[in-house]
Formats: sequence, structure tokens, C-alpha cells
Amino acid sequence: MTLHFDPDRLASLSDHHVGALREAFVRAGFDDACIAAAEQVGPRTFDVLRRPLVLRALSRQDTDASAFAALFAYGGAVPRERLQASLGADTLAALQDAALLDGDATITSRVRVMPFRGVWIASTEFDAGADAVMGPGITTDELAHTLAYDGVASLADIGCGAGTLALLAAKAGVPEVVGVDIDPRAIAFAHFNARLNQLRCSWAVGDLTAPLQGRRFDAIVSQPAYVAQPGDVENVTFLHGGRRGDELAARLLAQAPGLLAPGGRLWALFDTPEPTLAGVVAWVERAFAGAPLQACALALPGNGADVQSMAYATLRDDSLGERYRAELVRYRDHFERMGIARVRHVLLHARVDPSVRSLLALELGALTAFDAAGIGRLLDAASAAALSDDALLARVVRPHPACCIVHEQSLAPSGVDRFTLHFEHGAGSDRELSEVAVLLLTALRDHEPLAAAIAAHAEAAGVDDDQVTAPALAFVREGLRSGMFVLEGPG
Ligand SMILES: C[S@@+](CC[C@H](N)C(=O)[O-])C[C@H]1O[C@@H](n2cnc3c(N)ncnc32)[C@H](O)[C@@H]1O
Repeated sequence: MTLHFDPDRLASLSDHHVGALREAFVRAGFDDACIAAAEQVGPRTFDVLRRPLVLRALSRQDTDASAFAALFAYGGAVPRERLQASLGADTLAALQDAALLDGDATITSRVRVMPFRGVWIASTEFDAGADAVMGPGITTDELAHTLAYDGVASLADIGCGAGTLALLAAKAGVPEVVGVDIDPRAIAFAHFNARLNQLRCSWAVGDLTAPLQGRRFDAIVSQPAYVAQPGDVENVTFLHGGRRGDELAARLLAQAPGLLAPGGRLWALFDTPEPTLAGVVAWVERAFAGAPLQACALALPGNGADVQSMAYATLRDDSLGERYRAELVRYRDHFERMGIARVRHVLLHARVDPSVRSLLALELGALTAFDAAGIGRLLDAASAAALSDDALLARVVRPHPACCIVHEQSLAPSGVDRFTLHFEHGAGSDRELSEVAVLLLTALRDHEPLAAAIAAHAEAAGVDDDQVTAPALAFVREGLRSGMFVLEGPG
């Protein structure tokens, strides 16, 4: 665990020294690629197990970039001469005066600084106690992966932590960006990170959207705190979202539509203990309370109570020590008391559209299966399901490109053949298909518009168009609402 750091000290660093730190990072090539290479050492396991090997690999490289990675990203100690060579004695002294760095012959850092998608984000470590400030993590990356800012002139990042998502938007060219966090320590880091990245954002301390009343935004992005909080676990602002965990996210979903401009977009990521996809849909509907939105909820199957307890306890103590063991049992008891059997991870994209309210929900194998354009196509498909029959028949409907049909042929004389629609790259959950559905999917692949595909399907089945049109339209509408079909061509 890093030593306590007072983020107000960040403001004492002069622009000159912040600029020098940035220039040293650029010169050294302390960037995403440098971290990606370090992440190849003993990948996909707990940091506590792999960190000594990562530090060993970095010290062998002995470059400026590897020294910065060891010091700022992996909590290592770096010889003073090494840092002095890459930072300059003057900047090194200034960082020590501001208490960012500590030590004599070897130097350690009280803050974490991570390169992330082209910016550097200073924060504390995740396990730095009750007032830890969250920098970029795996979940920040999941959300960032789905964002595109075309047409966005103003954006609010709610629960901005160290400012990561706000700064990514500013870096992408969004002219007006504001970040809000209830934790003044987080906002102190966000101010510093804007300076470090030479980006302009404004920042406010407050509860969710409260500091933004009366304003309108083209986009709102949020990864609120969403971990369930047992009564006997100390509150951690960046983690805990209420007893269930999703209470803060529900408040955000209720408030955000009121701050969105016409056509505005909401992007949010959170956990919910709703056990089924239908439960997630009902929860989102309740939170939106009739707001005029087209929404798409992408949910992972989630973890059972045991595994989720382990995941949450690790966030507090990734050394898997005493605190981990104590909190693990508290989380597990809490889930049992609350009747929580499963916790799902949900990515929500919504856009203001007074003409069609819709909510598409998909269970995915991986949240990274879709980027912004992919989610936009899902939303377009779901809204096309509401078109009149004639309008829909004139559109080009295709099976989703990630779909393939798996045909299992039984070798037993009495066995039955089975068809399954399989989604590649975790882009949906597999479902069984009837033979009729297989014929229709094949016709949709080969014919356009939808009316021609249905005619070809009728011919293949040896029946009149009239007999198949109504059931085919019902199947296509259901498929447009469930990620099985997408639209092609102009609307
Ligand atoms: C999970 S962190 C996300 C940080 C950052 N947005 C990211 O994605 O990396 C949640 C953030 O929400 C903040 N937060 C918690 N409760 C809040 C509230 N009521 N209003 C505003 N921010 C809140 C926490 O301080 C924390 O910085």
C-alpha cells in the first residue's frame, strides 16, 4: 500500500515542473505500449503475485521508460541517479518537496501515474484506504472502449475520480468538459491531471449532478461507485454505491436525462445484483422513470456471491492479507443477508429520442465485444423494430456479422439435428434456432430488402408470401431488439 498522500500538495508544483515531468514522460516513451509490454509478464493474475517479476523485468530493461513504469505504475524503488538522469535534478527535487516522491539513494512514489489511452493519470493506489482516489482501471478501459465523441460539444463526467474519462474527452477535442466528484481529493488529482496533460476541463465537487443544475450536455459519462457495502465494512467513497451497490447508479440514471440536450447521450458502467437479464431491464426502466430514451444495456452473466465477494475484497487489499480475509467474509455474509446470489456488470448506452422509447438488453461474453459504432448499430436496429410493416419491409435487414449458425448432426438413427446461433467474440448469448429460422436467416443474408428476403424464404419453404410474412416480421422485430439482426443502408 502506498503511503498517505495529501493531494493538495499537487497544487504546489509549478507549471514549469509539471511541464518538465510531462516532457520527461514523452521523451522516455512512458506510454500505453510500455505498460502493455509490462503487463505481458505473468499476465492475468493477481498483481501481488506478479509484481516482483514485473519489477525484475523493468529493472533489467534499464531505460527511462522502464524506470518510470517501475516507480509510478508498479510501486517499485528506483535508484536516485537513474531518475535524476531522466527527470533532471531540479524536477526530481520539486517532486520530493511536494511529497510525491520519497527517499534518498532509492526513490519511491506516493502516487500512481498511469499512461492511459494517450493521457497520463495520477491517482492513489486502489487499496490506499478509505480516501483512495481512483485512476484508470480495467473497468475504466471497458467504458472508454465504447466511447466516440462525434457531434459532442459538451460532456459531463459524473464521479470523475482522477478525471480520466473527462480528460479523454477533452483530448478527443470536446470543447466543453466538466468533471464532478463528491470527493475533494479526487478533484485535486483531476486538476493536476489536466495540467499534466495540458488539457482544459472544469471541475466541481458535489453529489452527482447537483453542481450542474440548469445546464445541458451532449453527453454524460459515468462510472459511479457501485460496490455493495456491508454495514461492517468501512465506507470507501470510490467503491461503495449503497447496500446493494447499485443505488448510486440508480440515482444517476434518474438524474442524467434531465441534463441531456436533445439527441444527447448517456454512457454508464456499473454492477447490479439483479439476478436475470429481465431483472436488469426492469431495474433500468424503474431508474429512468419514463424518460424519453433509446437505451441498450449490455450485461455480463456476472459472478456468483463467492467469486464476487473475492473480487470486491481484493479491491481493498490486493496483497490478499489480513484485511482481504476479513472483508471477504463480510461481503459474503452481506450477500447472504441481502439474498444476493449473483452480481452483474452492466454497460449502458442511451440517447434522448422523444419519438421512440426502447430498451434493448443483451447478455454478452465480453463487454469489449462492441465499440461505439457497434452499439450505435444495436440502437438503430432496436428502434427499427418499431417501424410500420411497410417501412420495415423496405429496409435491408442482415444477421449480425458476429453470428454464425452451428449445425449439430446427430449420428444416432433416432437423433435430431440441432441448429444454434452462435455469437463470436462474446457479442451475444447463443440460442437455439428452428429449421424455419435457419431458412429465414439464410434468406436475409442473401436478399434485400426485407420484403425480397421474405419472398425468397417463402419460395424455399414452398408456401405463399402471405403465409410467412406476419411470423417472419415478428421474428425479425424480436431479432432487431435482441442483437441478432442489424440494418444496412440508408434509413
Ligand atoms: C468507480 S470510481 C470511477 C472513477 C473514474 N470515473 C473512472 O472511471 O476511472 C467512482 C467515483 O465516484 C465518486 N463518487 C462516489 N459517490 C459520489 C457521489 N454521490 N457524487 C459524485 N461522485 C461520487 C467517487 O469519489 C469515485 O471517484
